[in-house]
Amino acid sequence: MATGDTSEGDWGREGSRLVSRPLTPGDVEEVARLASRWPGGEAFDAAFVHALDTWSGAQVDHLPGTLAVENPAGGFLALGSVTVSADVLHERRADVRFVLHPDVAGGSLAFVFLDALERQALERLGVSRAAGADADVPSVVRFTLIEDEAVARHLESRGFAFAHAEDDMACGRPEVEAAFDGELLPWREDTASDFFRAYEAAFGTRPGFPAWSERVWRAFATEYDEFAPTLSRVAVRDGRPLGFLITALAPDDATTGAHIVQVGVAPEARRRGVARALIADLARRVPADVPVFTLSVNADNPSAAALFASLGYATRQRRSVYRKVVSAS
Ligand SMILES: CC(C)(COP(=O)(O)OP(=O)(O)OC[C@H]1O[C@@H](n2cnc3c(N)ncnc32)[C@H](O)[C@@H]1OP(=O)(O)O)[C@@H](O)C(=O)NCCC(=O)NCCS
Repeated sequence: MATGDTSEGDWGREGSRLVSRPLTPGDVEEVARLASRWPGGEAFDAAFVHALDTWSGAQVDHLPGTLAVENPAGGFLALGSVTVSADVLHERRADVRFVLHPDVAGGSLAFVFLDALERQALERLGVSRAAGADADVPSVVRFTLIEDEAVARHLESRGFAFAHAEDDMACGRPEVEAAFDGELLPWREDTASDFFRAYEAAFGTRPGFPAWSERVWRAFATEYDEFAPTLSRVAVRDGRPLGFLITALAPDDATTGAHIVQVGVAPEARRRGVARALIADLARRVPADVPVFTLSVNADNPSAAALFASLGYATRQRRSVYRKVVSAS
């Protein structure tokens, strides 16, 4: 069976021949068509399009890190991609995203495919070769699932553990009028430390707070290609950073649009409308033709979910992340 970038694989299934192979730029149209029809397809479509953007201009005949199972009857039965994050500093991370045709979800083909994706992830992390010998951070493989119990049990049997769940929320435009009686400053080199101080104060009370250094958090906050410094704001009153909002803007992407990467308010300033004012300010600044406002909120964060629901955001889907450390530091 193939897990490499260039070779093909052959998976027997009840007499039919299934071929696994990397995706090619010529598959884009079919992937986009399926993305709107399969559960979770949107997430894969976005990852795939991102991979395509990254490789466009280069002479590629397949997309590294992708894997697809062809349907003998045409189209695909499964699609997957592995992305190794270059900008995450606290761990080396391979993110696996996949979608399964509803006919194969829960069946053995799905599990063979997931195992192949894990091997692909290990290969791309170089874990089998380097075995973490000179790594100063752990290497981690993460699978993101869209509500799929059978896949969750399979990953657990392979040593993965549930990490967290996030709800993807979206609305046309937040319905909110609110002002902040202080300054709302954009992200700049001279304000970035204020953003970090607001982040530490706001998230220090969250379960599992990672206590990142400013350098690591800054890398996290700005890692998106679409990071929008001029649409990100820190709320400062009397020289004190009380709240912040980090935004990514993908104006032409109907699934991302204006995306709130993180928003937080220091405990002593809560329930006074600071978060509402930050989001109202964002809604005023984002160009009118941006079709959607999005964000993800941890499933164990009902107060934030209540905030977003009160502004018109509704849950689109729940994603669960399963992870396994594959080489320790
Ligand atoms: C979630 C958070 C950003 C809210 O900030 P805030 O400035 O207190 O929010 P606001 O005062 O603007 O609240 C606006 C509305 O949101 C809802 N809301 C906010 N906090 C709430 C809570 N603890 N319980 C229930 N509803 C809440 C309410 O509808 C509120 O309106 P109201 O006060 O008139 O009832 C803040 O609690 C926080 O920083 N939490 C930790 C970090 C975090 O979880 N960030 C979000 C994930 S990205």
